[in-house]
Amino acid sequence: MTITFVGHGYVGLVTACVFADLGNEVYVIGHTTEKLNKLKNGDPIIYEPGLQEVLKRNLDSKRLHFTNSYEAVNKSEVVFIAVGTPPKPSGEADLSTVLEVAQQIGKNLGNHYTVVSCKSTVPVGTNRKIEAIIKEVVKTADFDVASVPEFLREGSALKDTFEPDRIVIGANNEKATNLLLKLHEGLTGERVTGTLESAELIKYAANSILATKISFANLIALLSEKVGANVEEVLTGIGLDRRIGNIFLSPGVGYGGSCFPKDVMALTHIGTTLGVDMGLLHGVTDINLAIKDLFYEKIKATAPDKNIGVWGLSFKPDTDDIREAPAFYVIGKLLEDDYQITAYDPEATENVKRLLRDKISYSDSAADAAKDKDALIIFTEWNEFKQFDLNELKKLLKKPVIIDGRNIYEPKKMKDMGFTYASVGRKTT
Ligand code: UGA
Repeated sequence: MTITFVGHGYVGLVTACVFADLGNEVYVIGHTTEKLNKLKNGDPIIYEPGLQEVLKRNLDSKRLHFTNSYEAVNKSEVVFIAVGTPPKPSGEADLSTVLEVAQQIGKNLGNHYTVVSCKSTVPVGTNRKIEAIIKEVVKTADFDVASVPEFLREGSALKDTFEPDRIVIGANNEKATNLLLKLHEGLTGERVTGTLESAELIKYAANSILATKISFANLIALLSEKVGANVEEVLTGIGLDRRIGNIFLSPGVGYGGSCFPKDVMALTHIGTTLGVDMGLLHGVTDINLAIKDLFYEKIKATAPDKNIGVWGLSFKPDTDDIREAPAFYVIGKLLEDDYQITAYDPEATENVKRLLRDKISYSDSAADAAKDKDALIIFTEWNEFKQFDLNELKKLLKKPVIIDGRNIYEPKKMKDMGFTYASVGRKTT
């Protein structure tokens, strides 16, 4: 098929590459010349394992094209909207870009049947708005709208897209659903088809329950510390019940990224405006904030001397994304307390430099960030940190103090090696 994506963020770019890899002719529309030029030259702009190879492969095969022109819409059977829906101060999703893009698509539809599919995370009812906008722009066009939410995770985006657990397609009629089912034929995973509204709600509900699991784990971590339990033992004990499961139940320094914080707030806003008590999700957000504040308190209590090293700045491993990264929030508070911070992250340093500039120092290696420091703080569980030689780490640090926001080491082992080791939901040893 010939298909077009509007937007080349994580979702647009990764999905476009995957569909090109499956043999489709794929156009990607963007509006920043500098970014489009990089993409045309095989630079994916974002750090995502494996993405550069797939991008280059499909550029070489000439199945993948980047452009700033909406002309591609004209020859496409399916047009995906994959632009951002950032939160407004109220938590409500800002749909201005999505609706603007809908207009442009409407103006450029061809005189054959097209399915305009929304991959952006949008509140229930948005696809009907998109449909109305296109109908207003072009009275006679032969098109349907569909909601095809995306479930890929940063860091494992390609695998998640090639081998998803499920593909959700919401549409008004079978014609649109069938065309999209055909397009997705090369991908694994269960198919869930239904209404536009169901598909729109599935996306928010999925992210919200995942965030709820994390906040629940963090709440149990907090209680574990109070009662002297070990949260890892507690969560293993409950997670082995197959009705509960242990996936996505890791406590830490809170969830971040461009999705969970935004989507939980957006669903809270949707429910509240409909008169539904959204207390559960308010709680999820509140715990996520509180857990970061408590981690900051833990750093102050465990590391009173203020020349500290930081390992990990991205909101999770295997990405350079720092949006809503817990590290960022806690570092901001530590700076107010005059901590001197030297940070290392395998991929995210450049992004942090653009924002924090010389407020902190940056290291080229994990070892350098730890060298001669009064304490080491861990915000992200990169493999490099899990595998670091702890004997070397002890020699590097001025004081053997570690405050670990991702529970990557064993407290007993750390104690035996002579570290002061504070983690999440476990006794400081
Ligand atoms: C999330 C969802 O997992 C994807 O399914 C979804 O497609 C995506 O949002 C989106 O809406 O676009 P992502 O934000 O890339 O993906 O990353 P996750 O792996 O979900 O992690 C989010 C945050 O939760 C990270 O800060 C991570 O450290 C934290 N987390 C995750 C925990 O604190 N504990 C866990 O057990 C799991």
